[in-house]
Amino acid sequence: MFSPTIASMLVSISTMASLGIAAPSNLAQRSPSQLSITAQLQIADSGVDRAALLPQDKDYVYDFSQNPGRFADRKTFPALVGTGGSLAVGILPPCGMSFLHIHPRSAELFAVIEGRVLTEAVLEAGVVDADGKPRVIHTDLGPNMMTVFPGGAFHTQLNPECTNASIVAAFPSEDPGIGLILPQTFALDDEWLETQFGDISTNEIAKLRASLPTGLFLQAEDCKKKCGIQTE
Ligand SMILES: *[C@@H]1O[C@H](CO)[C@@H](O)[C@H](O)[C@H]1NC(C)=O
Repeated sequence: MFSPTIASMLVSISTMASLGIAAPSNLAQRSPSQLSITAQLQIADSGVDRAALLPQDKDYVYDFSQNPGRFADRKTFPALVGTGGSLAVGILPPCGMSFLHIHPRSAELFAVIEGRVLTEAVLEAGVVDADGKPRVIHTDLGPNMMTVFPGGAFHTQLNPECTNASIVAAFPSEDPGIGLILPQTFALDDEWLETQFGDISTNEIAKLRASLPTGLFLQAEDCKKKCGIQTE
């Protein structure tokens, strides 16, 4: 059973493009010109012309509960073309943590509707604490609270409780994209990584690479103990 969590949402943001997952079926038909509806909307001469490409009221509705990944961007929800925004709605399960990530083309406005979410974010080089170390921004968000991850900030979110957290993430971009810091870092060639990490050994690189999670979900160990969640 598909569980629409924030972790799967993140992965779906990154895989939708590569898998070519189509827009909702009523919008997926290609015109004779073979352009997707999103592409046609992007090159429409005016807002009036765009509206003509979305003739039905349902073209303006996106049902998060019907869509795996729960992420509405201009590809999954073409009516967003021209708005400059996209939106994700999701559940962060008990003890669930998102992969450390960035959005290459967008800031993120992140709000908690229900439950509790802790976040950590690291901004750009030069943003340092009193000791000159990269500053980490920690937040502890309850219902009706939000934080912001500025564009390019490394960030991750953790639900430290034993109940679901319900969240919304809005992006001032129709196509924010996602970068997963660790898997993409460890895609580099070994010799390059050895130098980047200050000359650690090939063995250590192999160990680190092998220990990277491969599934869709991360779960915090201490929290799992507290909540009595079994390791799968
Ligand atoms: C938590 O969220 C999951 C995924 O949406 C859902 O299947 C489950 O029923 C939720 N649990 C509770 C207690 O609401």
